[in-house]
Amino acid sequence: MNNRIENLLTLLIKNKMRKNIVAGNWKMNKTLQEGIALAKELNEALANEKPNCDVIICTPFIHLASVTPLVDAAKIGVGAENCADKESGAYTGEVSAAMVASTGAKYVILGHSERRAYYGETVEILKDKVKLALANGLTPIFCIGEVLEEREANKQNEVVAAQLASVFDLSAEDFSKIVLAYEPVWAIGTGKTASPAQAQEIHAFIRSAVAEKYGKEIADNTSILYGGSCKPSNAKELFSNPDVDGGLIGGAALKVSDFKGIIDLFEMKAYIYNDEKGDNITVTDDLGDMADQAAEYRTELIEKICELDDDLMMQYLEGEEPSVDDMKKVLRKATCECQAIPVCCGTAYRNKGCLLYTSD
Ligand code: 13P
Repeated sequence: MNNRIENLLTLLIKNKMRKNIVAGNWKMNKTLQEGIALAKELNEALANEKPNCDVIICTPFIHLASVTPLVDAAKIGVGAENCADKESGAYTGEVSAAMVASTGAKYVILGHSERRAYYGETVEILKDKVKLALANGLTPIFCIGEVLEEREANKQNEVVAAQLASVFDLSAEDFSKIVLAYEPVWAIGTGKTASPAQAQEIHAFIRSAVAEKYGKEIADNTSILYGGSCKPSNAKELFSNPDVDGGLIGGAALKVSDFKGIIDLFEMKAYIYNDEKGDNITVTDDLGDMADQAAEYRTELIEKICELDDDLMMQYLEGEEPSVDDMKKVLRKATCECQAIPVCCGTAYRNKGCLLYTSD
């Protein structure tokens, strides 16, 4: 029986290897000097702590070369908001993926609804952009999302599925390098935001579409961000959904206190990881003083799971395979009852295989 629980722990931990990300999209805001000041301020705000999510700022092209060397690359990634669909040559005013990469930037937003709506970017154009970004070592943050009329006609799934065609002809290896961002157009810059339930529903749909195309493992490892009037006051509820892996932030990324307020919502303090082979749970330094107690904790957790009078757990132990989401609920219950060290299990299993976090 213990073996089966060990396998379950490994499965659950492995199941959440994707990253949580808070990315800012500055859009067409900030002069060079203002942008430099904003990047410096953010860098300082994060200087004495380790964010519990990846942090990215996507800036206008002209800021990239100045901002990239200013920020601590271990904490803040820099990206562009667009790149050309051509490699190089006589395309006046365009900026290629190679040029973006040459600034030290690592990311590029592609397929933003503003580019689709105002600059005629189509599924086909975006296919070329995504391929060029990847060929130049950039991580595309690929945006999809429906307009209000499509939402009102309940066509949002159809719309995002069609938009995904731009990235669904990638090889599995290339697809696994991209980040997706769901941004309902009706929520961008409007102050309206998708409800947490609406966000979860469509994020789960997007993940299922990825699973259908590339398999469950790749789908489970794909970060899907939410964007659209995300602020510190509403992001926590949005991010607490199992399929929402962070945010793509517009307006609130222009003010460090707001942006940092969103970053801070990933408040995990301690991490437990499985090792590369997946057969040992190890604890990172972040667990600090509690590391010594981790082995004890693990034993107690297994005992608690055995004691739980839970239908799902019984089914599992009898050899059935309830859904991973159901099993996570069981694990949460067991963890919350566990007294060995002051931990509880909340949303923390979300991050990079992270299973637990301190309750204080
Ligand atoms: P707002 O956060 O300003 O609504 O913008 C969202 C967005 O478009 C990010 O790409």
